[in-house]
Amino acid sequence: MYGNIRAAVVGSINMDLILKMEKVPELSENVLGTDYGYANGGKGANQATALAMLGADVKMIGKVADDENGKALLENLQGKNIDTSGIDTDGNQTGLAVIILDGKGRNRIVVYEGANAQIDPDKAVSHLLDAKPDLLLIQFETNEDVVIKCVNEAVKNNIVTVIDCGPAKAFNLEKMQGATIISPNESETQALTGIYPETDADISKASRILKERSKAEFVVLKLGERGCSVWDGESLNILPSYKTTVTDTTAAGDCFTAAMALEYIKNGNIYNACDIGNKAGAIAVSRMGAASSMPTFAEISNYSIKEL
Ligand code: RIB
Repeated sequence: MYGNIRAAVVGSINMDLILKMEKVPELSENVLGTDYGYANGGKGANQATALAMLGADVKMIGKVADDENGKALLENLQGKNIDTSGIDTDGNQTGLAVIILDGKGRNRIVVYEGANAQIDPDKAVSHLLDAKPDLLLIQFETNEDVVIKCVNEAVKNNIVTVIDCGPAKAFNLEKMQGATIISPNESETQALTGIYPETDADISKASRILKERSKAEFVVLKLGERGCSVWDGESLNILPSYKTTVTDTTAAGDCFTAAMALEYIKNGNIYNACDIGNKAGAIAVSRMGAASSMPTFAEISNYSIKEL
């Protein structure tokens, strides 16, 4: 279990509108949806939920608005025993994501940032330091200043710092140096390095660039159904994914990063940590939704017994 680990998550909190259809529309085309529903989401909130489901003691830092979605999202996090004292409620509108899901469970996501873009960097840092966490988990779905200030403070205070580089954007990595793990997926890797990690040579080249720019200890690329790669500055290893039935790929990366981060804190071995991340991600893609698809510690353990 990860019950003795204190984690802080600085990131986005969104209401997700999930629209299912067989085939996504082309430009100017109308298609019929097959189902829709609302779900708790946002990369930050998803990762906080994953950490809490795995037993960690979690504080979420972010912003919503004092509107219906904001209230519902806060209640949901509190229901998972997540400390929400670091979430301000004075944003203009709570973040919203429209997730288009095709018949193969593949997603396309449009995010309206709303309150997520209005987090105050200094307040976020003060919430972070108040939490005295073992782990900071942070993503790029808030404003750049928040990410840079929180990462730098966490590194200065010897907090294990894991950066999930979603969503894809060019980011000034040089302004936050020395995190423990930096972990983009394929499109995020391309946005940060100009290289889509297709071949082993691409993976190696992109990983080296990311390490050089961020000075992170480990570069972990999330490679979708191929698994993930680890570059520690000396050797590159690819850890294959666990095969599963794909229902919805949304938030599989969030789940991977959270599980990997906790296991890394627990045993200090990046390869074991990535293997746990792969198992957690496989479970998440087999389920519908974002926050609702996160597994428990027991589910990951049983999954490993079944697969090995
Ligand atoms: O990573 C998945 C998340 O991205 C969704 O929950 C959505 O809110 C977007 O932020």
